[in-house]
Amino acid sequence: LFAGETEFLKGVVAMNGLPDADRVEVCFAGRSNVGKSSLINALTGTKGIARASNTPGRTQEINFFTQGPDLYLVDLPGYGYANAPLAVVEKWQKLLKQYLSGRQNLRRAFVLIDSRHGIKKVDAEIMKLLDSSAVTFQCVMTKADKVKEKDRAKVLEQVKGALAKHPAAYPEIVLTSSEKGDGIATLRSIIAGL
Ligand code: GTP
Ligand code: MG
Repeated sequence: LFAGETEFLKGVVAMNGLPDADRVEVCFAGRSNVGKSSLINALTGTKGIARASNTPGRTQEINFFTQGPDLYLVDLPGYGYANAPLAVVEKWQKLLKQYLSGRQNLRRAFVLIDSRHGIKKVDAEIMKLLDSSAVTFQCVMTKADKVKEKDRAKVLEQVKGALAKHPAAYPEIVLTSSEKGDGIATLRSIIAGL
């Protein structure tokens, strides 16, 4: 699957701009700066196809990438980013919620959690939304290269405990580093299995 080409299809700002739901789709959700765009770049092996940046709030549209003919990879705007005009933030949040709860071909939502920080209130809110929309989601820990083994284990416990409360959560947690490549092959095969 990932041997196929990756192409940027379009950036969407409203529900009526979504491409046809004619293939399997997976999306990458998470707080601003958690590493969504970097993870897509690592998965596809195409540096820079998804724009990653140090500036939180870099991704402001729902960005669709085609991975070969059978898969959409979707890079979502980060949530919990307050440093933008309130009207703009509210517009993103509304679109994000509409997308996460109303996309019929969305096979799995990957919810990215920073390995240093664990699950925050905004993550729990998104998980609740996914529960109520019956969208299976799976947690992906990002930036594993930035934490010590011991601290990582603590965060992992917190995440495991939190997931137990969410009926839509897929129990396996994937530990990744887009920088070092940890977990990337695992995540590719999970997606291929969908
Ligand atoms: P928004 O689009 O703003 O929501 O951010 P995002 O979640 O797409 O994050 P992005 O991929 O742009 O990454 C944010 C920053 O974290 C960038 O400076 C990346 O280089 C860095 N980063 C992402 N993944 C990793 C990782 O695995 N390890 C390390 N060390 N840095 C990472
Ligand atoms: Mg991004």
